[in-house]
Amino acid sequence: MEFEKIYNENCLITMGNMPDNYIDFVITSPPYDDIRNYNGYQFEFEKIVQELFRVLKPGGIIIWVVADATINGSETGTSFRQALYFKEIGFRLHDTMIYYKNNPMPQTGNRYHQHFEYMFAFSKGNPKTFNPITESTKYHGLANMKNRGQEGSLNYQKTERTKEKKVGNVFSYSIGGGISTKDKIAYKHPAIFPEKLVADQINTWTNENDLVYDPFIGSGTTAKIAHILKRNWIGSEISKDYVEIAVQRLKQYTANNLFST
Ligand SMILES: C[S@@+](CC[C@H](N)C(=O)[O-])C[C@H]1O[C@@H](n2cnc3c(N)ncnc32)[C@H](O)[C@@H]1O
Repeated sequence: MEFEKIYNENCLITMGNMPDNYIDFVITSPPYDDIRNYNGYQFEFEKIVQELFRVLKPGGIIIWVVADATINGSETGTSFRQALYFKEIGFRLHDTMIYYKNNPMPQTGNRYHQHFEYMFAFSKGNPKTFNPITESTKYHGLANMKNRGQEGSLNYQKTERTKEKKVGNVFSYSIGGGISTKDKIAYKHPAIFPEKLVADQINTWTNENDLVYDPFIGSGTTAKIAHILKRNWIGSEISKDYVEIAVQRLKQYTANNLFST
């Protein structure tokens, strides 16, 4: 298959043309709970997840960003049901991470503001790549650390504490016009990823030249960031209108022809 292309088709067709164990990493946000009507397209969740399992390399990771709609006064629970289905067909639920929105749409009524979406990391076996994002530790250098001996006595031991530590699994991003991306055209799509979210996840789970796939690529955020980070990429998007937005957006970053029909 050709890389650096958005295939204007159902992702089941794109994956149908892929051999087994082909993709290193998937990051995507599927259409969920009909929260938005993406030009009327439906998606066949179970078939898609089965295909993702087939085309992902052993050790590959899928980042699946989802939330629930609230219907008849109740959250649907779709996110949980989807996560359990991934497990049922053989994925590991490697990490339930949170995409925290610093500035969500305010909610009326008797619920707190909806600040987050799930960012499930599903793996096919043990993840083959993990380049953790780190942050500085407040205290580092040699310190007297306490531990208890078997008989209950307190012992002190000189221990070296590191300058950097892994970040936690709640990732906060500010979102909205001019923040999620500087590419104005992307906002013609109703549900774009913040670019930083995609960059953080690609950097964590892949290395340069790995193959990244987004089966619901929308405005092309995954393509742009994968390209900038020197990863190969393929995308699928069923809506011609959104493919056109993505192609316009990506023109400035890559000279290739970005979609095929
Ligand atoms: C949540 S949006 C993704 C937005 C994307 N993350 C971005 O940054 O622009 C989901 C996309 O999936 C597309 N879609 C829905 N069903 C599809 C299918 N079966 N195959 C490919 N794309 C599909 C919709 O048209 C929509 O653009």
